Amino acid sequence: MPGLLLGDEFPNFEADTTIGRIHFHDFLGSSWGILFSHPRDFTPVCTTELACAARVSDQFKKRGVKMIALSIDSVEDHHNWSKDVMAFNSDADTTLPFPIIADHNRELSIQLGMLDPDERDKDGLPLTARCVFVIGPDKKLKLSILYPATTGRNFDEILRVIDSLQLTAQKKVATPVDWKAGEKVMVIPSLSDAEAAALFPNGVTTKELPSGKKYLRYTQP
Ligand code: BEZ
Repeated sequence: MPGLLLGDEFPNFEADTTIGRIHFHDFLGSSWGILFSHPRDFTPVCTTELACAARVSDQFKKRGVKMIALSIDSVEDHHNWSKDVMAFNSDADTTLPFPIIADHNRELSIQLGMLDPDERDKDGLPLTARCVFVIGPDKKLKLSILYPATTGRNFDEILRVIDSLQLTAQKKVATPVDWKAGEKVMVIPSLSDAEAAALFPNGVTTKELPSGKKYLRYTQP
């Protein structure tokens, strides 16, 4: 079964892209990275997604996250499609602010478990699903989300998740439902109250619950 699990080292693949041939680990350097795949160039949902990714690219840069897209067409198609994407953004004079990998023989899509068996091209070959991989500076997989080809992603949610990943990589906290950067976080269950008190100088508040168990502990990171 191809595919990657959280904590796996992300493959150091070689690929042709719109910025030339890359070795993925060299492309990432010591940065965080996001690789997001698209079913096909010149398709409607993909175009709206790539355009949104371009509009929020400064937000990824601010977080130190290098962006790269993937689709199963050629570099030449990617260059032409990128012009449509930027025109869709009414920004036709600017180039797409991140590269696109050309996976025309679907090698990477197979290796990374990215094919959507329900969506096929005119020759009956499966298209790529909408995968999101976030890779840490240690080159390990920190997050993977897999959407079918028929459902577009939400890049605000992906940025929100990256804020959580980067915070929880540094501090022994976890982020609750719908958390946004700057809000209170939860102390992770494996920390004792004494350890939490020592680690969080802003204090820890514990919510009383019917069970009497003191597991809902909040702090301001
Ligand atoms: C799209 O990007 O619009 C799309 C691509 C493949 C299947 C369905 C939708």
